[in-house]
Amino acid sequence: MSLRLGDIAPDFEAQTSLGKINFYEYLGTAWGILFSHPADYTPVCTTELGKTAQLQSEFGKRNTKVLAISVDSLDRHAGWIKDINETQHVSVEFPIIADPERVVANLYDMIHPNASETTTVRSLFIVGPDKKVKLIITYPASTGRNFTEVLRVLDSLQLTAQYSVATPADWKEGEKVIVALSVSTQDAQTKFPKGIEIVKPYLRYTPQPNLA
Ligand code: BEZ
Repeated sequence: MSLRLGDIAPDFEAQTSLGKINFYEYLGTAWGILFSHPADYTPVCTTELGKTAQLQSEFGKRNTKVLAISVDSLDRHAGWIKDINETQHVSVEFPIIADPERVVANLYDMIHPNASETTTVRSLFIVGPDKKVKLIITYPASTGRNFTEVLRVLDSLQLTAQYSVATPADWKEGEKVIVALSVSTQDAQTKFPKGIEIVKPYLRYTPQPNLA
């Protein structure tokens, strides 16, 4: 059975480019991103891991640990990481799981046999500090993911975990947010002292509450 939002992200142990890890221990109290790529030494994957390495400090600012995975071996990872660093002008410092037996890939339902019987699709899971699955996105092998979007969702998830708000279409950090439906307009006046813009009783905006 595949994972759904709100499910507990299964724990596992795995060999990675940075040694053996236990997923939960690796995450600690941080947020986590577990993402699969179909194969080492392939072009789209090279750019994706390069982009992730470029954004390492952005993930760090968001207290988020990243963990990549493919069904390739540790030896292949080691050689490929050198290529990523060389061609994408980065230093990959996050672990990449070697999962030739597809243990983690199967645990997270990352192999979609009608797309490929042997390799993973581009699955990405965001896991909260409570170890629950907060986001699942799945892309085909031919389309590289948008990591700016991944950061945007992370910002939204972290904001909405802290405040009774939701984020509108195309929202970006710093823009106004939506007052959660669970909050009455009366309560919203005190919860959101920066003010409320009422467009409809169900559509109420407020400035992003965690900014000065
Ligand atoms: C790629 O990363 O370019 C790729 C990987 C597997 C299949 C197709 C493309």
